[in-house]
Amino acid sequence: MKKILVTGGCGYIGAHTIIDLIENGFEPICVDNNSRSTPVLLEGIEKITGKKIKNYKVDLCSFDETHAVFQENPDIEGIIHFAAYKAVGESVHEPLLYFENNLFSLINILKCVKEFKVPYFIFSSSCTVYGNPDEIPVTENTPTKPAESPYGYTKQIGEQIVSETTKTIFAQSILLRYFNPVGAHPTALIGEMPLGKPENLVPAITQTAIGKIPQLKVHGNDYPTRDGSCVRDYIHVCDIAHAHILALQYLIKRKNKSRCEIFNLGTGNGVTVLEAIKAFEKVSGVKLNYIIGPRRQGDIVAVYADNKLAREQLGWEIEYSLDEMMLTAWKWELKLKDDEAIHNNPNFKMN
Ligand code: UD1
Repeated sequence: MKKILVTGGCGYIGAHTIIDLIENGFEPICVDNNSRSTPVLLEGIEKITGKKIKNYKVDLCSFDETHAVFQENPDIEGIIHFAAYKAVGESVHEPLLYFENNLFSLINILKCVKEFKVPYFIFSSSCTVYGNPDEIPVTENTPTKPAESPYGYTKQIGEQIVSETTKTIFAQSILLRYFNPVGAHPTALIGEMPLGKPENLVPAITQTAIGKIPQLKVHGNDYPTRDGSCVRDYIHVCDIAHAHILALQYLIKRKNKSRCEIFNLGTGNGVTVLEAIKAFEKVSGVKLNYIIGPRRQGDIVAVYADNKLAREQLGWEIEYSLDEMMLTAWKWELKLKDDEAIHNNPNFKMN
């Protein structure tokens, strides 16, 4: 069984990927300092898979702590590097925090990849590297634009660091550019846990529907799109997770043509904010309380993926529709509410 190190494994996409790794015969090891996550998703993973997950609470910005994980597991064969800060707005106010955290951790991991001759490395990137594209859909060859935020720069620079480094070491690498990951595991045992008020659309929708947020604000309806709201490529988190397993298998089978390859992970369908709201209302049966507000600074009008390369090279197939994205996100929100009710019940006692 190949041992795969998943950094940021307690996070949203990391946790879904750990499940898929187990289902495909890999042995995941999780590393997470829980600075922006809690180990609670590991419990959900364990319920779904029946497997106990080895988790190291390690800060990847410490080379010594990172190195110790590799010393204890010198047989790690692959790394999926999710661990990073990802709040765009925060990155604008705290650029050094983002550059330090996202880049030091990546450099430390790559130093270990080099020293321990780890053969396969997968990096979490984002469609944010395309900025405001001149043409859509974007292919992997669409030129990248200056990033809109320090977060975006950490993804662009991260890509360069991985690509330049893997030219000179044993490892082969893949950069996966995610579009807008949404939804939750169909069991509703794991899902997204935004810290504070969510900035992203789908958690903002589900939190409005459940009453955590009084009203959803649609950021602008005067864009040059079919209904005036922005267009994005929402993609189910389980489809994103599965692409990581396919990417690993692609490298293991030596199907790659170069030492660092890039794949877009989106459905290829552009969906407007208002269409996403309608899909949510349809599957949940909940009428959403929303108003049209002004445009959000830094938002791009429209972006969606050309995903031909991932489909043809990795054999990736999209399994979840927009309705299923919304339904699984909703079921997860309902589950969180149930859990809170249990925890707030005075009769509930922790064992
Ligand atoms: C954001 C990040 C991007 C990141 C991605 C991950 C920015 C500028 N970009 O992209 O770097 O990779 O998340 O998922 O933040 N919307 C509303 N009301 C809300 C929330 C969102 O109308 O309360 C709209 C936005 O204006 C946008 C769309 O919904 O048109 C999607 O927004 P969001 O989920 O934040 O994703 P992105 O902006 O595409």
